Amino acid sequence: MNKKSMFEIVKSDLILLETELFSVIHSPEKLITDMSKHLVEAGGKRLRPALYFMCAQNRVCDTEKLVPMAVAIELIHMATLVHDDVIDNSAIRRGRPTANSCWGNHSSVLIGDYLFAKAFSLVANKANNQMLKVLTDVICSMCEGEINQNRSTFNADQAENDYLGRIAQKTADFIAASCELGALAAQLPSNEVQAFREYGYSLGMAFQITDDILDITASAEQLGKPVGNDLRQGIVTLPVIYALKNSPQSAELREIVQTPNMSEEKIKRGLRIIHDTEAVEYCYSRVAHYLNTARSIIPKSVAIEHKEAFNAVADFVGLRNY
Ligand code: IPE
Ligand code: IPE
Ligand code: MG
Ligand code: MG
Repeated sequence: MNKKSMFEIVKSDLILLETELFSVIHSPEKLITDMSKHLVEAGGKRLRPALYFMCAQNRVCDTEKLVPMAVAIELIHMATLVHDDVIDNSAIRRGRPTANSCWGNHSSVLIGDYLFAKAFSLVANKANNQMLKVLTDVICSMCEGEINQNRSTFNADQAENDYLGRIAQKTADFIAASCELGALAAQLPSNEVQAFREYGYSLGMAFQITDDILDITASAEQLGKPVGNDLRQGIVTLPVIYALKNSPQSAELREIVQTPNMSEEKIKRGLRIIHDTEAVEYCYSRVAHYLNTARSIIPKSVAIEHKEAFNAVADFVGLRNY
């Protein structure tokens, strides 16, 4: 399953999204335009706006009216990634140098703020209060999730539920909100809006677990971002929690997890210990669980000819290697 065929039903919407993304990022301040252009050109999966469009499929309004919110969703996503790369001190994102590595942290923090504000200025006169609240709640949730994550770095005494709560806030809530916003734009009844939200939530949980697996199993070329970074930064993800509990080398891994500024050799050793357990298989079984939930709650209002696309996104999240 590739991204192109999965998003076929919203292909024309996504083309409009790209055009709009390029047109809204112009500022009289050249640095802002340059940085934003760099971020938009780097691409990305456009998963969140694509889901928003998909969930608005049986809409009563036309695409033009849907586009500002889709642009806002992707701008908010881009803003969180720029800030995330500052926090994580990452040099590569989407296969390109990050904003922080090109322009430094100072400008990157500001461009992130600018993109957040731009997102809201685009929808200020268009979205209703309920939709605006969904957007602001998402940002609050992501910040809470990131702060929770920061507090729990280098802490080897964490349960699976601590991890699940964190990824719900930092990732699943946003994907859930993207689906919810699509359903709200289509003016669906509240039980259907809720069903779309739950579909997005389960998808989002699976998406972040996969991201955390790929940090351990993939290559940087494949992902377009660094690998092994979670362990390096003391971020305790599900594969680590599993290995800490089940590996015969648990004590050694514990030491690695708890120590900041580990040598690259130690990081490699940590990754080896994780690989030698069933951690990856276990995490994929959790991914499968969330994706089955997502597939089982595809809302009734999804037209029969569109159901396949909703299943295809779930397949993609489970099988993705980038
Ligand atoms: C990256 O999101 C952040 C996570 C929640 C893991 P994506 O993997 O959707 O990033 P892009 O937009 O494709 O770069
Ligand atoms: C997702 O977490 C970050 C956000 C929700 C902004 P990660 O820190 O794992 O994302 P990547 O791996 O850097 O894309
Ligand atoms: Mg990161
Ligand atoms: Mg990651």
